[in-house]
Amino acid sequence: MVTFNKSELLENKPRQIMINQTPVCVVRIKDEVFAVADTCSHAEASLAEGDITDYKIECWLHGAEFDLRTGKALTPPAVEPLETFSVIDNGDTVEIG
Ligand code: FES
Repeated sequence: MVTFNKSELLENKPRQIMINQTPVCVVRIKDEVFAVADTCSHAEASLAEGDITDYKIECWLHGAEFDLRTGKALTPPAVEPLETFSVIDNGDTVEIG
């Protein structure tokens, strides 16, 4: 479990954090925070380097999109979902993991 001040997370700017040696991609959209596996389910690419549109993150390498709320793969070439991580919102801070 990792605790952040929400103000440390720039809106729509993905950030990679480590939880138990697992890379996790954290994204703040408005006042909501989402956490999914940072490694794309298609190949070895860090999603923290991808782009955010609405509630989707797009992998920079081959363009697959994932739903940040569910981890679901929305567009090819990815078909497998991303693992999602719990986010507990405490107002100014969030606990992830
Ligand atoms: S590595 Fe992400 S779409 Fe291929």
